[in-house]
Amino acid sequence: MSGAAAELLVTRAVFAETLAYLARHGPVEDNQDDRPLAPNELARRAADKRGLVTALTDRVDAALLAAAPRLEVVANIAVGVNNIDLAACSARGVMVTNTPGVLDESTADLVWALILGAARRVTEVEQELRAGRWTGWRLTEWLGVDVHHATLGVIGLGRIGRAIARRAAGFAMRLVYHNRRRLAPELERELGAAWLAKDDLLRESDVVVVQVPYAAETHHLIGARELGLMKPSAVLVNAARGGVVDDQALAAALASGGLRAAGLDVYEGEPALHPALLAQRNVVLLPHVGSATEATRRAMAMCAAENAVAALAGRRPPNLVNPEVWR
Ligand code: GLV
Repeated sequence: MSGAAAELLVTRAVFAETLAYLARHGPVEDNQDDRPLAPNELARRAADKRGLVTALTDRVDAALLAAAPRLEVVANIAVGVNNIDLAACSARGVMVTNTPGVLDESTADLVWALILGAARRVTEVEQELRAGRWTGWRLTEWLGVDVHHATLGVIGLGRIGRAIARRAAGFAMRLVYHNRRRLAPELERELGAAWLAKDDLLRESDVVVVQVPYAAETHHLIGARELGLMKPSAVLVNAARGGVVDDQALAAALASGGLRAAGLDVYEGEPALHPALLAQRNVVLLPHVGSATEATRRAMAMCAAENAVAALAGRRPPNLVNPEVWR
């Protein structure tokens, strides 16, 4: 479907019901072939639009905004908005929205898949089996580390971080966290979470999960120095954003025995992976599927669509990230 009069561009493939909902509110230009649009093609197709429904693979920057003078709203199908230059959007009065809340539990589930998968070497040993190298049970082979009764350290106890933390009770874990600002004491009590300075959390945790947005302040939040503070038996998990962890430093720590294992869903420069990470067996590598359940991806797409429709109808979108543009 591609209408000349479309005021809204959906940059990547979405679900049929998402398009049907959008089409009820006005003509829509879609990309159901799901070919990622190069910046010049995105700019060309955005040129006459009032709204964009974007994916985290789209870069929305000053150049795109300059090419799209009618633009009023960018509705990102993601909770993270690091693919969007927020300051440039705000300066132009363009509303930016995200999809918070609907993906917390599914993402937390996936983080636990990474925790358990890395600690118990799930994908590594499955590869051994598939390669025909399983010759029978052995007492001393393919040993992992225990998750139950260990210490879980969450850096970034926001909505998703708290969903991750709540699951730790089932594993009888000690829970510590680091946020720049401490949570309210009642919330700490409810979660059973103790605040620690970042370096202390890294020293004391058996499993470290980073769950912070990517921004200049969180670039390489976990680098060589931080990895050096962690226990050699520890596991690191990042399903937040590439760039929060220094992938090269992580690969070096995994190779040298500085760190036991890691579980990753996101990468610097994805979909390319650092070759040193690919060479390591003690890391579970997933292709950015944190929120990828049938129900959650549908909810995310609909959430973005509702934000776009509200904005284009002159209503304040429910998930406005830059409220300063709302008059
Ligand atoms: C996914 O990575 C998201 O930010 O929603």
